[in-house]
Amino acid sequence: MWDTLRKDFPVFKEITYINTASIGLTPIQAIKIVEKWIEEKKYGNLYWRKWYSETREAARLAAKLINANERNIAIIENTSIGINLIANSINWKKGENIVTNNLEFPTNIFPWQVQAKRHGLELRVAQAKNGRIDIKEYEKLVDDKTKVIAVSWVEFSNGFRHDLMALCELAKKHDAYLIVDGIQGIGALKLDIKKTPVDAVVTGAQKWLLGFPGAGFMYISDKLLDEMSISFGGWLADKDPFNFEFREFTPDNSARRFELDTPAFISCIVLKTTLKYILKIGIDKIQERDLELARYLIEKAYKITKILSPTEDGKPMSPIISVKVRNPQEVYEKLKAEKIIVASRRGGLRISPHFYNNEEDIDLLLQKMREHIV
Ligand SMILES: Cc1ncc(COP(=O)(O)O)c(C=O)c1O
Repeated sequence: MWDTLRKDFPVFKEITYINTASIGLTPIQAIKIVEKWIEEKKYGNLYWRKWYSETREAARLAAKLINANERNIAIIENTSIGINLIANSINWKKGENIVTNNLEFPTNIFPWQVQAKRHGLELRVAQAKNGRIDIKEYEKLVDDKTKVIAVSWVEFSNGFRHDLMALCELAKKHDAYLIVDGIQGIGALKLDIKKTPVDAVVTGAQKWLLGFPGAGFMYISDKLLDEMSISFGGWLADKDPFNFEFREFTPDNSARRFELDTPAFISCIVLKTTLKYILKIGIDKIQERDLELARYLIEKAYKITKILSPTEDGKPMSPIISVKVRNPQEVYEKLKAEKIIVASRRGGLRISPHFYNNEEDIDLLLQKMREHIV
């Protein structure tokens, strides 16, 4: 099955790509849809309603992927905009605090810093030890003045996966919101919102969801939707978006109230297609395969160098594995010259296989690494 699916990503004839944590590969089925869209675009607005209904279809499929209700999903441009939309809609009170950690990607740091400055909030930063952050670190920082706990489900540099259930419980105890940057997990690992009731999860489509930059989605719980203020006005966010009279804005009650403007249809339609593709394979199967590849990588890589990513009894927490090399940027460049694509992040060589990779990709990478790091 995996060998057959790999054929949907013809770039493997040219390069060995093990870098989904940066940008994922897009299957040919979605590329064909783009070609079709370009044809349709020749006719100006003739296909507008079709593109819009395909965008809403993407929201329905996103809901299915994480077992949420469609009313809680908004299609957004990317993770950064989603986090900013949420952060700017929360009713902050001076003296409240936000808890995050020092493994975060800037997307999940800067928006909170901006709010902290604007509203007189304290930003508390949990410190990672050996690449992981124990729930005890959060317990020390979270109190009744905590409004938001902001973490990535999976950390971008080393693949550390937060225990979202434990954080949900901690947030609930202190009446705080748990807001999750999901981009390094969604599409690779299974998230069931009904079982893991985070307040919000935000993702772009360009990595594990196999999509294009310019589209993503966010889930927002009913509780958070009810409690946030209306801070953004947008014609498509209105209850009656196609009424073009001069009138009062009535934002939709659902998460659609964050879909303000004409979406990047081309990216949304690709997202719809890749979500269908992922759902057809099954997120359980993808998770199993991605973790199997990561485990294979750890078992082999550990014989030649140190694994920097935290593990659970030797098992990977996610398909993002960081390994030690003397000069990651230099090794990255050398591998690239050999048409093997990985990444250099925060002092490690980051390798991030998805289901379209195979054991031979990893063997080839390790063979070349041996030549360059030993
Ligand atoms: C954890 C994390 N969040 C966010 C992003 C990117 O955010 P955006 O979709 O806004 O470009 C990345 C990587 O590019 C990431 O690793």
